[in-house]
Amino acid sequence: MNQLSDRINNLATSATLAMAAKARELRAEGKDIIGLSLGEPDFNTPDFIKDAAIEAINQNYNSYTPVDGYVELKEAIINKFKRDNNLSYTLPQIVVSTGAKQSLANIASVMLNAGDEVILPCPYWVSYSDIVKLSDGIPVEVQTSIDTDFKMTADQLEAAITPKTKMIWYSSPCNPSGSVYSKEELRALADVLQKHPNIYVVSDEIYEHINFKGGHFSMAEFEDMYDRTITVNGVSKAFAMTGWRIGYIGAPDWIARACNKMQGQITSGANCIAQRAVITALEAEPSSIKYMVDEFKERRKLILNLLSEIEGFKTNEPEGAFYVFPNVSSYFGKTIKGKTINNASDFSLFLLEEALVATVTGEAFGNPDCIRISYAASQEEIKEAIKRIKTALS
Ligand SMILES: Cc1ncc(COP(=O)(O)O)c(C=O)c1O
Repeated sequence: MNQLSDRINNLATSATLAMAAKARELRAEGKDIIGLSLGEPDFNTPDFIKDAAIEAINQNYNSYTPVDGYVELKEAIINKFKRDNNLSYTLPQIVVSTGAKQSLANIASVMLNAGDEVILPCPYWVSYSDIVKLSDGIPVEVQTSIDTDFKMTADQLEAAITPKTKMIWYSSPCNPSGSVYSKEELRALADVLQKHPNIYVVSDEIYEHINFKGGHFSMAEFEDMYDRTITVNGVSKAFAMTGWRIGYIGAPDWIARACNKMQGQITSGANCIAQRAVITALEAEPSSIKYMVDEFKERRKLILNLLSEIEGFKTNEPEGAFYVFPNVSSYFGKTIKGKTINNASDFSLFLLEEALVATVTGEAFGNPDCIRISYAASQEEIKEAIKRIKTALS
């Protein structure tokens, strides 16, 4: 008998992790799977950061850390916010967590009461919806389309707001669409929010540096939004540090204090060695990771070119992150190689089984017409993967 709580029974398994597990299974059977499903840079963590970690071990950083992070790291984060985002925060406004994912979970649990609605422009990062639900919040999906570059417009935001709306969560650059909100687009959303002073914003900026156009803008830079925006960031993507598990927020201090309190009862402070290494990472100029961004840009060009040769893939031009999010709905209702494709999940499974390429269904991101293809893979792998997809579909 299932004795588990409703909470866990109702929780979806992360679709990206589920796809990675399935790909691993097939690999264990000897199949040569190309993994384009995970949101993980395929670079090594830069040496100067690894050296800082080794030094921290040798200096015996081994004790519990302050719940909200070492002061030196929080200072480095404050300087980073000032340098890169023109944002001024003080020490009590910063909380370091075990990944931005934990930062988001903290925010949901300190901000949401049962029935509070959280507006999620679709497509959204896979975990937003379930993190909100875990805190008894109600995700309210706002469908966007490729015609608006998968961005929510001010009118759409206005229409989605109800008396129960508590927050809006979005990422820019966006996982999975790669879209980047411009200052003007954010201003239009902020103008709507002026009429609704009790709505808070989570601005997830974890892909900030992986921006091919430049011009990253933070919602909190608007003076009238500063007091109700929580800026989420981390080192996983820009510094190729996914496994080090460090994320952080800059927030109004009452929210940061609440996150600190929550974290103190759940996990305590983040890993000591990783925190020391992240001080070094954040103190470095963003130019120190430009070689990775340049390579992602090359791969984006490559994958967009290759995908344009496959009939039925409609793709926007992502301005950041390392994903493409093609609309593949023209395949729905078709039978290929004896397999009927009714939706994006069928399509993604078809690609895994017939092309041996792992992608993720758009359903997981709130868009059932698309699939997400990560190009955090070598150019050779990308070429081979798209060749296989083309062959499987022809
Ligand atoms: C938009 C977005 N936010 C947050 C995260 C979580 O990052 P972290 O590794 O810091 O937990 C991810 C990771 O995929 C992401 O894509």
